[in-house]
Amino acid sequence: MGTQAAPAASEIAAVGVIGAGQMGSGIAQLAAAAGCGVFLLDSDPAALSRAVASISSSLGRLVSKGQLSQAACDDSVKRIKCVSDVQELRGVDLVIEAIIESEDVKKKLFVELDRITKPSAILASNTSSISITRLASATSRPSQVIGMHFFNPPPIMKLVEIIRGADTSEEVFSQVKSFSERIGKTVICSQDYPGFIVNRILMPMINEAFWALYTGVATKEDIDTGMKLGTNHPMGPLQLADFIGLDVCLSVLRVLHNGLGDNKYSPCPLLVQYVDAGRLGKKRGLGVYSYR
Ligand code: CAA
Repeated sequence: MGTQAAPAASEIAAVGVIGAGQMGSGIAQLAAAAGCGVFLLDSDPAALSRAVASISSSLGRLVSKGQLSQAACDDSVKRIKCVSDVQELRGVDLVIEAIIESEDVKKKLFVELDRITKPSAILASNTSSISITRLASATSRPSQVIGMHFFNPPPIMKLVEIIRGADTSEEVFSQVKSFSERIGKTVICSQDYPGFIVNRILMPMINEAFWALYTGVATKEDIDTGMKLGTNHPMGPLQLADFIGLDVCLSVLRVLHNGLGDNKYSPCPLLVQYVDAGRLGKKRGLGVYSYR
């Protein structure tokens, strides 16, 4: 189990990113800008096209601000290869998966990655709350499985939360920490508890904002303005929930509720109803607010 030497961060030359949504495309951008060859994998060609457009636009913003040369921007885009077959990841040093928040789906993916990737490859999950230990247990290399939790939008947010599973090796932890620093992030380290550090604290606040709205304490605008101006947050909690995705918020709250067994994490019925109605937030054009 996990006997192969994992590559040093400086040797992480090829990175596989799975899932070409907002998180996956942002992570691919960061790895490419740091000089890695990137394989961005998604079964949906439209998602890959959207990802390339969003990466080009995001890097373009840096060029227009004079923070990146046009040549470096072009080179970064060229380093990203869009693929649809997981077999393409067989030579990578590090895989970061950013697919949907479903433990079953992620476990199946980890089984496949364990079979396909070279024995020394590190397998990382961008999960926002699912147990790394349980994902690792689906593989034959639990010492090389780790959580690498990025924040949206990944090119802007300065944090990576690294989660050690029960068997993650010290060596893999320090390699992933160095790699995260190499792509410009500040690292915090969490043990493998539900919601880790940030979502353990953020999601109850978002849930409480829904309760305040649900019970008629105030309007959505006043709740958000209150938290923006009263606590200097860049977005109010309801606007942030729309930005994250109400389905993601609900799924994290359910992980907290089930894993920590305290009713204080029970999702507000209004959040549940919005998700049931398909009001998933900004990505769907409708959540707490309308973006249409
Ligand atoms: N790529 C490159 N640059 C980007 C960018 C991107 N994807 N998105 C924004 N920017 C840049 C803009 O160019 C702009 O740069 P300048 O200030 O130099 O002009 C700067 O970021 C600010 O952007 P905007 O002016 O467009 O908008 P804003 O000031 O409202 O900021 C925001 C947008 C950065 C998203 C800000 O509102 C914010 O920080 N919001 C909170 C985000 C947050 O909390 N994210 C974490 C959510 S939790 C999570 O992701 C994890 C989970 O598990 C749920």
